[in-house]
Amino acid sequence: MQMAKVACFSGFWADILRHEMKKVFLETWGCQMNVSDSERVTGTLARDGYQVTTDENSADIIILNTCSVREKAEHKLYSRVGRIRHKNEIKPVIGVMGCVAQLEGETLFDKIEGVDFVLGTRAVGRVSTAIDEAIKNGRYFDVGEREDEYDWTVADTHRHSPYVAFLPIIEGCNKFCTYCIVPFSRGRERSLEASEIIRQVLELRRNGVKEVHLIGQNVNSYRPETESGLEGFAGKSAFSRLLRAVAATGINRIKFNTSFPRDFNDDMVDAIDEHENLCNWVHLPVQSGSSRVLKLMKRGHTIEKYLAKIDRIKASSRDIALTTDIIVGFPGETEKDFQDTVSMVKYCGFDMAYMFKYSPRPGTPAFEMVDDVSEAEKHYVF
Ligand code: SAH
Ligand code: SF4
Ligand code: F3S
Repeated sequence: MQMAKVACFSGFWADILRHEMKKVFLETWGCQMNVSDSERVTGTLARDGYQVTTDENSADIIILNTCSVREKAEHKLYSRVGRIRHKNEIKPVIGVMGCVAQLEGETLFDKIEGVDFVLGTRAVGRVSTAIDEAIKNGRYFDVGEREDEYDWTVADTHRHSPYVAFLPIIEGCNKFCTYCIVPFSRGRERSLEASEIIRQVLELRRNGVKEVHLIGQNVNSYRPETESGLEGFAGKSAFSRLLRAVAATGINRIKFNTSFPRDFNDDMVDAIDEHENLCNWVHLPVQSGSSRVLKLMKRGHTIEKYLAKIDRIKASSRDIALTTDIIVGFPGETEKDFQDTVSMVKYCGFDMAYMFKYSPRPGTPAFEMVDDVSEAEKHYVF
């Protein structure tokens, strides 16, 4: 009996000692979902006895949380790993997380020399196991088993700010826009039950958080399995009911990002009009001002339909800030299509726009289309 106890304690202490002093440096690229995943991973690591450091050079373990939305983001990983291997004083264990990890899985070991573990977006909750296994046995990879796997737990999250919290409410994407890799890296849409979202917002509020961001690839496609938590809240969609339910928690400021134009309805603007704590900001990515290009992109709406939504936002009783994303140089885009985009931008008067050069992503339908817009045209600055 006594022996068994000793053996058990030695195992425990061996675990503690293995983690003790192990410093982890985590670098995050990509969207808010990646930032949120990193916050969860940092919390998990701290709970499991690792020391999270901002000093890359003293780190025993370096984790790169990657994005694959554009080719450039993916190439950054290749050069970054090379630099770590050649520059850092301590030869750290190198782990790759995020969308590149989820998409590439085990093949990353062959593509990039020096990677020790690969941890997909579906496996973020198992980061400590990945490190342990990589240290013990060399290479390790985990990209999850089921497509719908996602770790919603935010209990141990180390947030980037004491006052602002990112709260994933929907993960994945079912839209399959022809240029986009996200449906492949993040899988199908899954929504967190509203009762759980509200519980988390109330807890964040009690802990002093002032601003909560409801995040997801397409928040207004929010579709939980039950209406639990939304009873008594009006709205034409589950998302507008959720907005009203979250507003009712009394938290000071609520933002939501990103909105998908086809699923964005007037009722969401009504909710902003009704509730002061729903921030007066809408990010509504348009991608192009040409209905012809929108069709090639498979966005599921015409430019007229988009502009009608913009008109409703502008008619709000509050001054709503409007931001967007635009892709320039989609395959087949003509000068006329581009000029339609310029006119649309003038009409909408966006407060800010993220503008991207089209980047062909292997595996997407647009990758098979003839990319006939020259680099010079995509780069053209006027
Ligand atoms: N779900 C959001 C966008 C998420 S991806 C939406 O549908 O609007 C963020 C942005 O990256 C997109 O809005 C788009 O402008 C850009 N993007 C995605 N794939 C791209 C590609 N292959 N080339 C260039 N930009 C791309
Ligand atoms: Fe990509 Fe389209 Fe999904 Fe946005 S809606 S993440 S652009 S596939
Ligand atoms: Fe990039 Fe993945 Fe987000 S591809 S934009 S990190 S969902």
